[in-house]
Amino acid sequence: MRCAKGVILDRFEPEIIAFCCEYCGYAAADLAGSMRLSYPANLKIVKIPCTGRFDIIHALKAFEAGADGIFVFGCLEGNCHFEVGNLRAKKRVEHLRRILDECGIGGERVGMYNMSSAMGRQFAEAAREVTEKIRGLGPNPVKAAKSRERRAEG
Ligand code: FES
Repeated sequence: MRCAKGVILDRFEPEIIAFCCEYCGYAAADLAGSMRLSYPANLKIVKIPCTGRFDIIHALKAFEAGADGIFVFGCLEGNCHFEVGNLRAKKRVEHLRRILDECGIGGERVGMYNMSSAMGRQFAEAAREVTEKIRGLGPNPVKAAKSRERRAEG
């Protein structure tokens, strides 16, 4: 398999962090499980009270620690249980995309989905979509550089 930059990859399985708000994103993921819908195990779900708590610094630390992609799953716009948390998160995700573009990691490695707690099927589809997308992009360049350094050190 080749990533977007043409590098040949052996069975690259991306590590994706999914920050899910407790009321909708997490509930939709839970529903997908209850419905026995299969979706890739590449997503590591982090439950947060509201996407308004999603912070850019957490995302940058996750990339530094080796995450290949980060996605935020919150309530539908207008339905955030804390009124505007998901709108704040949307702005932070857009800002994070610009930062990642500037530092060479690539803003396409992050994104946001809005869904209700009843959208288990959509959660499973989104999980498949982001996994394919990040698989196509290849490993996070920070992780790739660190593993090259480790190999060079022996
Ligand atoms: Fe779900 Fe705010 S409670 S995004």
